[in-house]
Amino acid sequence: MSALFTPLNLRSLEIPNRVWMSPMCMYSAAPHGPGAGVPTDFHLTHLAGRAAGGAGLVMAEATGVRPDGRISPWDLGLWNDRQQEAFTRIAAAIASHGSVPGIQLAHAG
Ligand SMILES: Cc1cc2nc3c(=O)[nH]c(=O)nc-3n(C[C@H](O)[C@H](O)[C@H](O)COP(=O)(O)O)c2cc1C
Repeated sequence: MSALFTPLNLRSLEIPNRVWMSPMCMYSAAPHGPGAGVPTDFHLTHLAGRAAGGAGLVMAEATGVRPDGRISPWDLGLWNDRQQEAFTRIAAAIASHGSVPGIQLAHAG
């Protein structure tokens, strides 16, 4: 417990504490169409809210690198620019609270 609120250094990355949010699929992204896999305001609030609460690292859910690599059709994706831009906004919001953004890249077989 004594180390819980002390920084952890991984090479050049400093994570301000050891209270981390694990990746959790929210099944809340659009499954089809131009918004497929794109993080929404729900995802922004869900992830950045934990950073605002003090988590040192916030991991985005298992995120498919291809449409057919998602665990479910409602998972996030990172295979196009629209998704990348939405993730960039979320990463910036997390970082604005002094937390480290992370992502679990996934390719379900
Ligand atoms: C709703 C939900 C979604 C989850 N999604 C993922 C996921 O996307 N990737 C993953 O590795 N684990 C996922 N998990 C597992 C959690 O990241 C975590 O490992 C698990 O809840 C155990 O946490 P604990 O050891 O703190 O109890 C999910 C868990 C829950 C409850």
